[in-house]
Amino acid sequence: MPSKATSSKPAVMRAPTKAKPSSRIHPETKVEARAYLGDCREVLPTIPEVKKRKVDLVFADPPFNWARDYDKHMAGSAGGNKVWDDKAMSEGEYLDFTYEWLDLCSGALKPSGSMWVNIPDTWAAEIVVHLKKTMTMVNWCVWHYRFGQNTRGKFINSKVHALYFCKNPELKTWNPDPILETSDRRSIYFDARTEDKRDGMPSGLRVPMDVWYGKYWGRIQGNNKERRPGHDNQLPEVYLERVIECSSNPGDLVLDPFLGSGTTGVVAHALGRNFIGCEYSKANARGACERISNGPIRELGQSRGSVTAIHGPRRRNPRGASKAQA
Ligand SMILES: C[S@@+](CC[C@H](N)C(=O)[O-])C[C@H]1O[C@@H](n2cnc3c(N)ncnc32)[C@H](O)[C@@H]1O
Repeated sequence: MPSKATSSKPAVMRAPTKAKPSSRIHPETKVEARAYLGDCREVLPTIPEVKKRKVDLVFADPPFNWARDYDKHMAGSAGGNKVWDDKAMSEGEYLDFTYEWLDLCSGALKPSGSMWVNIPDTWAAEIVVHLKKTMTMVNWCVWHYRFGQNTRGKFINSKVHALYFCKNPELKTWNPDPILETSDRRSIYFDARTEDKRDGMPSGLRVPMDVWYGKYWGRIQGNNKERRPGHDNQLPEVYLERVIECSSNPGDLVLDPFLGSGTTGVVAHALGRNFIGCEYSKANARGACERISNGPIRELGQSRGSVTAIHGPRRRNPRGASKAQA
């Protein structure tokens, strides 16, 4: 699988307009990335694949109604750019908005389809209760990062929820192999049982736990080389790589109703998935299209076998040092 969107004739994805989505065909895998401009509640019902329920995977990282400035690099209406007002809604209005896009997205899925929602503590419970009415929860994962805002009167927030739902647990797409990591039994305890597994897993590897952290899993801040200017809420590429690899296949269709800086699009396109994204702000949509054309910053496929143990070996490796490494 190509890790970068390389091409002899690089096709740059233009920005979408209200009237017309923009599109790019990957020069090697021939999958399409398509971006729409507008409010996803108006745009989604017009998309043919949504109407025909052809979507395999939805990943949604919505506005949180936290008074965030979602496109600082072009705030205001310069160049006709309309910025999503992230503090305009009451709690009730925000939940009505949320249920509306959740229903549109779950209605777009194939019977084998899955949906992931990235959401903070503020809204996770309401979303889980709503989705449970029509879908099945597979995992309530937590993305843990080490760079929360300091607080003195309560615990420091250091997580966001990654809610994983499917239409039908019997039919859902599930590919653990590309996301496997080194088990603690191998990296800490040198336990021989993990080298000869009876559960069908490759030796020394396991499916990651439901709390996600590690190298490159921090918030995209400071001098992180993935960082796109003006985006407070950009997700790390490794996060989307894990989600897309485990719950879709090459050639499948991935939908993100809130493109933002384009992380889902850039990773899905590079991993050989078809992609549809929607974004309210023209400036963000333009930036996301540029990013999809350029490809990811990190090399994909590097996470398999990585070690997430929180301490070093507890005893000397009886089989020599090399077994401790993935
Ligand atoms: C949390 S950010 C997404 C960040 C993205 N996951 C990333 O990695 O860059 C939410 C985005 O949704 C956009 N947005 C807010 N409301 C929208 C709506 N109703 N329809 C489409 N896009 C919307 C905002 O402009 C913002 O760019």
